[in-house]
Amino acid sequence: MKAVIPAAGLGTRFLPATKAMPKEMLPLVDKPSIQFVVEECVKSGIDDILIITGRGKRAIEDHFDHSFELESLLHHKGDNELLREVRSISEMADIHFIRQKEALGLGHAVLRAEKHVGDEPFVVLLGDDIVFSKKPCTKHCVELYEKYSGPIIAVEKVPRNMIQHYGVIKGKPLGGNVYSIDDMIEKPKSEDAPSDLGIIGRYVLTPEIFDSLKKTPRGAGGEIQLTDALKSLNKKQKMYAWIIEGVRYDLGNKFDYIRASLDYALMRPDIGKQVREYIRGLKA
Ligand code: G1P
Repeated sequence: MKAVIPAAGLGTRFLPATKAMPKEMLPLVDKPSIQFVVEECVKSGIDDILIITGRGKRAIEDHFDHSFELESLLHHKGDNELLREVRSISEMADIHFIRQKEALGLGHAVLRAEKHVGDEPFVVLLGDDIVFSKKPCTKHCVELYEKYSGPIIAVEKVPRNMIQHYGVIKGKPLGGNVYSIDDMIEKPKSEDAPSDLGIIGRYVLTPEIFDSLKKTPRGAGGEIQLTDALKSLNKKQKMYAWIIEGVRYDLGNKFDYIRASLDYALMRPDIGKQVREYIRGLKA
C-alpha cells in the first residue's frame, strides 16, 4: 500500500512559529513532527509515501533529502552515530511530493494524490496527528482493512466540549472497538454530534474516494471535506471505524503539543530521567 500525508495547511494556530516554517517541522524534542508520521508508515511496512505540500513547505523536502554538507562535516568529525541518524532520514522510504496549489481543504488535498495512488487502496495520515502506541496505528488499520475489506477510519472518544473540532461518526458496535459506520458529519455543533467518536488522522481508503471527492461541494469552513466525500460514498460502500489504541496528540492544539513534547521527552533514554526529576521538582 501507498501512504498519503496531507501537509499543506497553513498552521495559523501556531503563529508566529509557523510564519516562515512549516508547522510539520515543529519538533518534539529534536524530531520534526512529520518524521514521526513517516516513521509510523515505515514501521507499518509502507515505504512509498506521497506528501502533499504547498507554498512555504520546502523545508519538509529538504528534511527528507540527503544533506551532503552536513554529512561530510559529520564524517570528518567522526560523529558516526549522528551521521547514521541523519542518513537514515533520507533513506527510510521513497518519499514523493506534490503541491496543493490552492488551500481548499483536506478533501481537495487528498484528491491531488489520485494519479500517484492509482487503482489501489491506500492509507492517509494527517501530519498534525501523532499516535504513540505499541503497535503502529496505521499497521493496525491496515490489518482491519484486510479483515473487513472496507475503508477503515480511526477514531477516539472525544469530550463533548471538543467534538465540534472533529469529523464525527455514527455507527453500530461490532466488537473489538470496531463500528460499522452508518453516517458521519464534519465539525458538528455539540448538540448535533451523533456520538462521541471523533475521527483522528488515520484512514485506509479505496480509490472510489476520488470520484466521490470530485463531486463533493465545499462544506464546513468553506473547504472540500474528506468527511463529506466519505459520507456520500458510505451510502454505497460499507465502512468501519476503529477506536485506536495508544495516545493520540493533535499537534495543532497548543496543550496537546506540550503534552506530546513532554511524553516523548520522558521516553527518551538521553533526557528522560532529567525531565522526570524536573517535573517532580515543579510539583513539590
Ligand atoms: C481534520 C478532519 C476531521 C478530523 C481531524 C482530526 O480536520 O477534517 O474530520 O476529525 O482532522 O485531526 P482539521 O483538524 O484538519 O480541521
